[in-house]
Amino acid sequence: MKSVTSLMELRTILERYRRDQLTVGLVPTMGALHDGHLSLIAKAKEIADIAVVSIFVNPTQFGAGEDFQAYPRDTQRDSQLAAGANTDVLFIPTAQEVYPSGFATTISVAGLTEPLEGQQRGAAHFNGVTTVVAKLLNMTSPDVLLMGQKDAQQAIVVGRMIKDLDLTVRLEVCPTVRELDGLALSSRNTYLTSDERSQAVALYKALQAAQSAVSGGEIDGVKVLTTALTAMEPFGVVPEYLSLVCPQTLNAVSVIDRPTLLAVAAVVGSTRLIDNVTLIPRS
Ligand code: PAJ
Repeated sequence: MKSVTSLMELRTILERYRRDQLTVGLVPTMGALHDGHLSLIAKAKEIADIAVVSIFVNPTQFGAGEDFQAYPRDTQRDSQLAAGANTDVLFIPTAQEVYPSGFATTISVAGLTEPLEGQQRGAAHFNGVTTVVAKLLNMTSPDVLLMGQKDAQQAIVVGRMIKDLDLTVRLEVCPTVRELDGLALSSRNTYLTSDERSQAVALYKALQAAQSAVSGGEIDGVKVLTTALTAMEPFGVVPEYLSLVCPQTLNAVSVIDRPTLLAVAAVVGSTRLIDNVTLIPRS
């Protein structure tokens, strides 16, 4: 694995691969790598020749009062994990490399960024995500961009950006990797105390309860949401949002007569967690 910090080094290496007609998959991350990230790297190696992994804790997507300073950073551990997952190139740019002085451009996707995470975290969050992902795409020029279903809205917003800007990359959205009890892997799970870790499974329990109601034939959105909320209650976790939305438009859905995204966010202790599932109605 080659580890680089400058754009010049990255481009020099990638040019060589491209001369050899090798395809490139990009897995952008903020580090604190876990099996969710590693599953994206494995998929990159499966569908492309070369896996490029970036690690950059992107300041512009964190709001005031969010965890930018506290966000776990351990480059040595991440390098070992990335190498173990057969990463070819690990790109760890400095903030100066990504946002040189005078940087003045923002990419903003309208509409899709407004509900759910956009409502809770503010417009700047997704503007930060789309701007940095666009930069990483231009820095790497990959054939495939791999992102996780765990951050469903993020993947939808990035997909819209790719389409709207005619970016020549294919977006591959990969399934959510979970702990044995169902908790979605997240770099932020490391913040949880052991009591909070037990509570955190509430999000998955809600999704699971909704899923089994829908598999059983329930299509009434209010009933499904009530079932999901009831499943969370014993854990003492109250969602910030628990919403049924169209997986393409993110518009609210009241009748689950087609695949519908159920998205949930909740603060457990002081850690903000998100998760989602696609509900498929009984045919
Ligand atoms: P980060 O939270 O590090 O996540 C990097 C990628 O891993 C994202 O595409 C995310 O959806 C995916 N991922 C996280 N947890 C996962 C899980 N349990 N299973 C499968 N995939 C998972 O998302 C970001 O970083 C940033 O916003 C970024 C896109 C890098 C832009 O800064």
